[in-house]
Amino acid sequence: MKQKLLEGFEKEFGYSQGVRCFFAPGRVNLIGEHTDYNGGHVFPCALTIGTYAAVKKRDDNLLRFVSLNFENSRVDSSLDDLTPSEAAGWTNYPKGVVWAFEGRGMKLDHGFDMAVIGNIPAGSGLSSSASLEVLTGYMLKSLYGFDVTNTDLAIIGQYSENNYNGMNCGIMDQFASAMGKEDNAIFLNTADLSFEYAPIKLDGIKLVVTNTNKKHKLTDSQYNARRSSCEAALAELQTVCDIKGLGDLTPEEFEKVKDAIKDDDRRRKAKHAVYENARTLEAVEALKAGELDRFGKLMNASHVSLRDDYDVTGIELDTLAEEAWKIDGVIGSRMTGGGFGGCTVSLVRDEAIDEFKEKVGAAYKEKIGYDCTFYIISVGAGPREV
Ligand code: GLA
Repeated sequence: MKQKLLEGFEKEFGYSQGVRCFFAPGRVNLIGEHTDYNGGHVFPCALTIGTYAAVKKRDDNLLRFVSLNFENSRVDSSLDDLTPSEAAGWTNYPKGVVWAFEGRGMKLDHGFDMAVIGNIPAGSGLSSSASLEVLTGYMLKSLYGFDVTNTDLAIIGQYSENNYNGMNCGIMDQFASAMGKEDNAIFLNTADLSFEYAPIKLDGIKLVVTNTNKKHKLTDSQYNARRSSCEAALAELQTVCDIKGLGDLTPEEFEKVKDAIKDDDRRRKAKHAVYENARTLEAVEALKAGELDRFGKLMNASHVSLRDDYDVTGIELDTLAEEAWKIDGVIGSRMTGGGFGGCTVSLVRDEAIDEFKEKVGAAYKEKIGYDCTFYIISVGAGPREV
């Protein structure tokens, strides 16, 4: 990957001297979906796949970008013009991070040339954008000597995505990418960013990510709409109880105050956020106690809630999860990430992997009309120079 990247850099920019290479991972979330903008808990892990960049500081203000993943990706811009634009396309992600650094007083003295290449499947919902944001932040820290922690990189990445790219995501994806640790999942409380690592290397069990390969996604607008519903529900609940986020309520507490939410649909959305947070706490407890079957059941219940109450699955994700549940060696299976497409994550016993791929693959093709793709994933570390 590094070789290809360096060659691509040289081909595009005409030099290779002094170029440095960096990497930041994508993520998969095991449980705790749509809880991160509600002050709840999440349980993601960083992947060994992600985004790589080759970069060199310039001695003028130019910012030149190229992606080796697609044609005609070259965009030239400048530190003097850091406003988002349609023409900037994919470079709005790295530019947004530069903008967010500058907004925090970390001004770049010069521009840079940057070539990127990623091995996260496009549109898979495994956080290629968060990995590009964290990668850019890590690169700026290393090249310009900015004094920022990896947690800062997550916060800056999320800030730029919210305020530069108009996607009101929570902190989970950027945090998972920035704080990833090999063979560990991250149990994060998004209310205060306290977290702990939990070992996730499981004997005889694989983490399988299955991509719906669904082409058209309208994720951003629907995602922002879900977030607004939760915020409206929170405001209604705050008229009857003293909470900062939906994640402050246990399911029992929620049941007592839920009538303050006037709209049925909004009440279901809030219910998901509250119950999903409780499931996440229980799932981590189950994992620590070695009770994998309990962990798996909570994964399945998470999918049902995302399907029936939060309305973010769709026939593709439902087919994958529901077919997986039929197989004996599947401990748990659920959609992961924002939803509407993207991937499921499943815990599958080694001996059931072939059957899983065969049966889920065939049923999916039959019902949806095209193939899904399986990846057996490994849990990797956070950003680094490579
Ligand atoms: C997307 C967002 C995250 C999180 C998930 C849903 O991946 O970027 O912040 O909200 O959806 O859990």
